Amino acid sequence: MNKQDDRNDLEILVSEMKAIKSPLRRYLNELYAKYKTLDEGKVADYIPELAKAKPDWFSICVVKTNGQVFEVGDSRQDFTIQSMSKPFMYGLALEQHGREFVSTKVGVEPTGEAFNSIILDEASNRPFNPMVNAGAIATAALIRGEDPPTRLNRVLDMFERYTGRKASVDIAVFASEKQTGNRNRAIGYLMLNFGMVPPNLDESLDLYFQQCSLLVNCRDMAVMAATLANNGINPTTGQRAVEAQYIPDILSVMYTSGMYNYAGQWAYSVGIPAKSGVSGGIIGVVPGKLGIAVFSPLLDSQGNSVRGIKVCEQLSRELGLHIFNLSNQQSELLD
Ligand code: DON
Repeated sequence: MNKQDDRNDLEILVSEMKAIKSPLRRYLNELYAKYKTLDEGKVADYIPELAKAKPDWFSICVVKTNGQVFEVGDSRQDFTIQSMSKPFMYGLALEQHGREFVSTKVGVEPTGEAFNSIILDEASNRPFNPMVNAGAIATAALIRGEDPPTRLNRVLDMFERYTGRKASVDIAVFASEKQTGNRNRAIGYLMLNFGMVPPNLDESLDLYFQQCSLLVNCRDMAVMAATLANNGINPTTGQRAVEAQYIPDILSVMYTSGMYNYAGQWAYSVGIPAKSGVSGGIIGVVPGKLGIAVFSPLLDSQGNSVRGIKVCEQLSRELGLHIFNLSNQQSELLD
């Protein structure tokens, strides 16, 4: 029986009321108001469907590992998960094949390059890491199933465990990704040339386009991040989403490669495992404590949300979240 079954509606209501009145909630409201007017950056338009996002959408959500949820702004606005799907797919591939086999197909070295760079590790022909497109396509190719619907359903089941609600794919975004995905096909065929992915590559590319087109909202993303922070157990449902033994694998590649060519600056100034997506989301994981998600579609030149980075920098600094911050006490806002 999962934790949600144990909790009656009154308990859930009381916990939500507490969250509304809490100092953390007030603090997030202030952060939201501060950055709401920042309108630097540009909505992604290299996939036509993504260009339909409203530039002023903005939300911040924090989910603690005790299951408390704090959300402000457009936190129930649906958007597509995009590259934020990558760490979760990596976890599924690890569960299905184990660490040893997966490491023969995708490495763990940061590239310092853009997310869509067409490069492989020359010594091994592997993609550098599962956070860049090459590694994510190789990871999608690893997902087991006798036919495409079975493989997609396994992926959707996995996302449902992380969010606690039904998963679905935005068909228009999927079609748009597929139609404009020649660069991803080029990356895939380069890997096929080296025998790094099986010959049913077009099916694996479809699965990659579908995983990017999964519909989520900012609250879902914070729950997913909190699930990683909670050693693989969704703190709002009590359901295990991924085996605990793979949490270090997922978090370490998020830490070193989750922000692509901004990963070093992010590790320095925010200091938590993270992943961004071109729809404008950023998730951050504070191990053992909380998950953060920020959603704002205005992106910088590296494809990361401008407001998302600002919010995470300030949150990390003021709440003492940097994982190497050994001297500061944790902020009382998190008590
Ligand atoms: O072009 C792609 O492969 C995307 N659909 C995923 C891109 C993405 O989110 C990259 N991250 N910032």
